[in-house]
Amino acid sequence: MTNAHGHHHTSDPVASMSPVEFWESRYGEADRIWTGSVNRVLADVAAGLTPGRALDLGCGEGGDAVWLAQQGWTVTGVDLSATAIERGRQAAVEVGIDPARLTLVAADLATWDTTERFDLVTCSFLHAWSVPLPRAEILTRATGFVAPGGHLLITSHASGPSWSDAEVHTGHDFPTPESELADLALDPDRWQVITSELRDRRTTAPDGTAATLSDVVTLVRRVP
Ligand SMILES: C[S@@+](CC[C@H](N)C(=O)[O-])C[C@H]1O[C@@H](n2cnc3c(N)ncnc32)[C@H](O)[C@@H]1O
Repeated sequence: MTNAHGHHHTSDPVASMSPVEFWESRYGEADRIWTGSVNRVLADVAAGLTPGRALDLGCGEGGDAVWLAQQGWTVTGVDLSATAIERGRQAAVEVGIDPARLTLVAADLATWDTTERFDLVTCSFLHAWSVPLPRAEILTRATGFVAPGGHLLITSHASGPSWSDAEVHTGHDFPTPESELADLALDPDRWQVITSELRDRRTTAPDGTAATLSDVVTLVRRVP
């Protein structure tokens, strides 16, 4: 998904912001900050699965969640930003998604819980550069939401894009395929690792030039 890394606030006020304040101000910068299109990795993975129940963690403005609903999945999306969630709801109405097919929730994934179990749990680009994010904790919790036989897909930035201000990412620990798997803390008797790799993605930089980004792609399956 095309994003606008160059636009992250780096000035001092950010240091005192809570994660909710940070993301609300980030979403407040424009009517829409992501493209609204499905992330390529998710589209590729979902193409090989039978639609069932899906959960999108850190769903932002709902590009992936709405797409999954359009493919026949019954989808729950969770994001910290109420603004982003509201945009996702609007996007769903615009393309005529049956409201029974898509539930979008504004909540903090560090504490959000559900008794539901999902055939696909997906988490695309759950990163934060300037505010705290208990990423490993959230990813470990995510494994608990997967139904027996279900899949967990995590797509992450392996590095900052070439066009972003380097200072935004200074000190940020980008995941590697190995660190991502370690964060999941999988019981090897209960999980099968299907994909754990770096994958290049062609995209367009904000100035219109072609660029290549590297994603960490982690796909695991809970044994039936
Ligand atoms: C880089 S965006 C990715 C959005 C979307 N998955 C996509 O690919 O377009 C990261 C998202 O994570 C959300 N987020 C950050 N920390 C969170 C938390 N603790 N709980 C829930 N969502 C969180 C932000 O609000 C933001 O929408």
